[in-house]
Amino acid sequence: MTPDDARPVRVPDLKAMKRRGEKIVMLTAYDASMARLLDRAGVDVLLVGDSLGMVIMGCENTLPVTLEAMLHHVRAVRRGVRRALVVADMPFMSYQVSVAEAVRNAGRLIQEGGASAVKLEGGRPVLDVVRRLTEIGIPVMGHLGLVPQSVHQLGGFRPRARDEREAERLLEEARELEQAGAFALVLESIPAEVARSVTQALSIPTIGIGAGPHCDGQVLVSYDIFGLYEGPLPPFVKQYARLGELMVEAARAYAEDVRQGRFPPQEATA
Ligand code: KIV
Repeated sequence: MTPDDARPVRVPDLKAMKRRGEKIVMLTAYDASMARLLDRAGVDVLLVGDSLGMVIMGCENTLPVTLEAMLHHVRAVRRGVRRALVVADMPFMSYQVSVAEAVRNAGRLIQEGGASAVKLEGGRPVLDVVRRLTEIGIPVMGHLGLVPQSVHQLGGFRPRARDEREAERLLEEARELEQAGAFALVLESIPAEVARSVTQALSIPTIGIGAGPHCDGQVLVSYDIFGLYEGPLPPFVKQYARLGELMVEAARAYAEDVRQGRFPPQEATA
């Protein structure tokens, strides 16, 4: 069976994968064409990440991403996907003001965007939101460690939980997120041993990014692994292709053909 005719991945499947010891594969996607390719490759979860602020919109961080921008990209990704679970990031200020606003905004990502779940950043301050969304049937993926929406408070995109106190707090918050109903948890830029403790302590899957090999799954930003993003890459990224360079070569070849009159061919009709 190819990923094309496999049945769609659902939220409870991720927990079952953890129980079976099967690694969960997650990548980011922002448009229908890329989503179609990643879905064909058998990626289990496509995250429409607010990283789109950096890799698509060219911003310095994820903070300028609005709910409308997210909706636009979630709809596009949804159209490209047959099998993968589509998770939509809740952008900055779409869930911090009140539970009611968070519910309304998460509801739009599900109802208008077509996502199957939402992801939001943080621990204790967002527990009420996670609880309420889960109660009304909106699955929530948590995100702890380096939480990019707090970039100013953190003083940059730096690794987290490197001292014992912060590691303990992270473990407590991971437990609390699970109790509040989160169905999975992204762990970003934390030591491998801290990620291992969290992974062992939870029955929901952990999905690591710069968090070592012991998580139940891994996620990376697709533009980073394909060599499409020219900004600085985090040290944990493995680049699997240099598509950016291929595109520059292809565009140069096209430009040369146009300038030399080789494209379109002389006999071609409109
Ligand atoms: O926005 C994003 O792409 C993310 C991943 C890096 C986990 O949150």
